[in-house]
Amino acid sequence: MVTRVDLELRASDAEEAVDRGDLIIAIDALRSGTSIVNALANGATAVIPVVTLREAYALQSKHPKYLLAGERGGQKPERFDLGNSPLEFVPEKVKGKKVVMTTTSGTAALARSRRARWVLVGAFLNATAVAKKAEEIATKERVGISFVLAGEKGKFSLEDLLCAGAISDGFRLGEISFSDKVQAALLAFRQAESNLIGSVMKAEHAKHLVKLGFKEDISFCCKLNVLEAVPIYKGGRVSL
Ligand code: MLT
Repeated sequence: MVTRVDLELRASDAEEAVDRGDLIIAIDALRSGTSIVNALANGATAVIPVVTLREAYALQSKHPKYLLAGERGGQKPERFDLGNSPLEFVPEKVKGKKVVMTTTSGTAALARSRRARWVLVGAFLNATAVAKKAEEIATKERVGISFVLAGEKGKFSLEDLLCAGAISDGFRLGEISFSDKVQAALLAFRQAESNLIGSVMKAEHAKHLVKLGFKEDISFCCKLNVLEAVPIYKGGRVSL
């Protein structure tokens, strides 16, 4: 069977991938996707993505042991335990904990994908591991694969496209058919790979994060294939 791999450039198009019945790989390379991967790799038992601050506060008052993480305008909201810097999700803070997370675009993209049967969270950190897992499921279940790029505030983001390219580079499927958007992501990634940080730094959101003082986060988010963790979003929570 030929596995079709497609890509939705904006989170608002996630429903199209869901309606195709595809396995979804949700990407928010800067920064929430990377934070989710790192949180789970460092021992968090689950990340619970929510769209609004209100939902986050309500969940914590019901479950006082849950940690609150995320951002608005790039910064940690009031009374949150953690921001959205992947570097904050260290074992000393997250091991054994459930983390409620709300960010401007990344957690909203996950919410839009929630009707899909399989949603994986992809980042540069776990690109090859995600490709392998997606392939396994798609081949077994005879479904296509779609990338859903979170972007930033509803707009397309360069860094998410490069990340989709990095994951596509890891597919080893015998018979595969890439859409033109996936081919573009792959070609862009191969061009960018030798200076990934420099390439990601050209993205508007990266420049914004540098202005906010989060340059180190970008270098961390660009680490390629250093983790095997493949987060799966199911039943309202993301876990390994
Ligand atoms: C988002 O979800 O909008 C991003 O992760 C924002 C950020 O980089 O803090």
